[in-house]
Amino acid sequence: MDALTGMLPIPPATALAIGGTAIALAVAISFWFLRSYTSGESNRLPRVPEVPGVPVLGNLLQLKEKKPYMTFTRWAETYGPIYSIRTGATSMVVVSSNEIAKEAFVTRFESISTRNLSKALKILTDDKTMVAMSDYNDYHKTVKRHILTAMLGPNAQKKHRIQRDIMMENLSNRLHAFVKTSTEQEEVDLREIFQSELFGLAMRQTMGKDVESIYVEDLKITMKRDEIFQVLVVDPMMGAIDVDWRDFFPYLKWVPNKKFENTIQQMYIRREAVMKALIKQHKERIASGEKLNSYIDYLLSEAQSLTDRQLLMSVWEPIIESSDTTMVTTEWAIYELAKNPHIQDRLYRDIQSVCGSDIIKEEHLSQLPFITAIFHETLRRHSPVPIIPLRYVHEDTVLGGYHVPAGTELAINIYGCNMEKSVWENPEEWNPERFMKENETIDFQKTMAFGGGKRVCAGSLQAMLISCVGIGRMVQEFKWELKNKAQEEVNTIGLTTQMLRPLRAIIKPRN
Ligand code: HEM
Repeated sequence: MDALTGMLPIPPATALAIGGTAIALAVAISFWFLRSYTSGESNRLPRVPEVPGVPVLGNLLQLKEKKPYMTFTRWAETYGPIYSIRTGATSMVVVSSNEIAKEAFVTRFESISTRNLSKALKILTDDKTMVAMSDYNDYHKTVKRHILTAMLGPNAQKKHRIQRDIMMENLSNRLHAFVKTSTEQEEVDLREIFQSELFGLAMRQTMGKDVESIYVEDLKITMKRDEIFQVLVVDPMMGAIDVDWRDFFPYLKWVPNKKFENTIQQMYIRREAVMKALIKQHKERIASGEKLNSYIDYLLSEAQSLTDRQLLMSVWEPIIESSDTTMVTTEWAIYELAKNPHIQDRLYRDIQSVCGSDIIKEEHLSQLPFITAIFHETLRRHSPVPIIPLRYVHEDTVLGGYHVPAGTELAINIYGCNMEKSVWENPEEWNPERFMKENETIDFQKTMAFGGGKRVCAGSLQAMLISCVGIGRMVQEFKWELKNKAQEEVNTIGLTTQMLRPLRAIIKPRN
């Protein structure tokens, strides 16, 4: 008789199964007890303060302006770092404090790990078939692992180094070419050049080659590079912020909104058609024996369990993600440097003393902390993703000492966190020195610009390398000036915080 199984003659395998079941049951009961205790505890806590609204619409009318992160930050001054609003029938908790945001990202993550997408996002993300927009589940873990292994993680970034070097050369050549062909006071449109180069980099990393044009069989047209960029990047970015009023009133889902549906559907169809054409072309390349270090090559050989749709979305995702936020950060940084010549001079002197006559490269960055400070201060002051894509509270939880019931949407207002007066001295001021304090370990995670916890941005290393070397190279080779010195550019547009008008600056070669 087995002492472990007590008095009954139970065969070992069954004993193991029963023993396992008993343990599992015990764990489940304790877990349930803990959950109901937490939930009970949460229920006894106060409710999140509410911003007064009107019946039916809630606070919708107060959010009419296209920059909700600014409205949210203003409200935080009156209602505190965490408050709730109503957008039609939906209740939303808004967090504008570093501490509570961290709680949501890490401690309470298990209760806030899903998303309830708007109608437009549901279509454009092919029902959450993206790393960035999926719920936290097995699919998310698998595709995040793929993208980190083959494209964005430290080892993959080392293998893609050549692509970033090509981008920097092209950027420099295009700026020099502009100087040669323009008049003295003519201003360069940095966005146009930088964005086009980022798109080229994204295509080389994901598809192995940049694209000039392609015949799109499903649409029976040949598309040029500009149109491809429009279909793969610009349209979906605009579509993502398109509002279908039915999102706010789910009980009115049955009311048709054909104009909205057709616009988003067209974006979806065109993107799918272009991606299919690109993938077909690259499958032909691979079949002909040409192998390249690209994400699609990796996925086709190592991720065969992905369906065709999942493959299409996996290849498209880094193209859209590469092409925007890094540009937004770099453009704001160059704008600030042009506006603050003494800071630009200081950076130039640092580069001179570290690089001498060499062209600045990624290897120099560790000796140039001021560039990193400029990058992080720009992320703080001009947070490219001002509100974390909405999270959904799927079980009762606690945030900032308040009860947050299941069914609530959660908006983490990164812009507001970065304007918190108790955390940042003179938060309105763009001042890279705040990241250069002597004898202090600088916490670059403090801006939370890349999110945090398990959903932290997968592309932060790439963004940092490109933006820092790009800023360094542009300042090493040119002096940047604003024509109109008083030009204050605080307005933004779009899903990310793009400057309303592209930066226009006069550039003078240093040598
Ligand atoms: C300055 C540039 C960038 C900023 C500020 C930024 C910011 C963010 C933020 C705030 C999130 C959301 C985290 C969340 O939902 O909690 C995110 C997620 C993500 N980002 Fe970035 N990002 C940048 C560049 C990039 C680049 C260049 C790529 C890829 C080429 C990229 C790929 C991703 C991916 C795949 C996710 C989803 C991670 C997940 O859900 O697990 N990002 N990013």
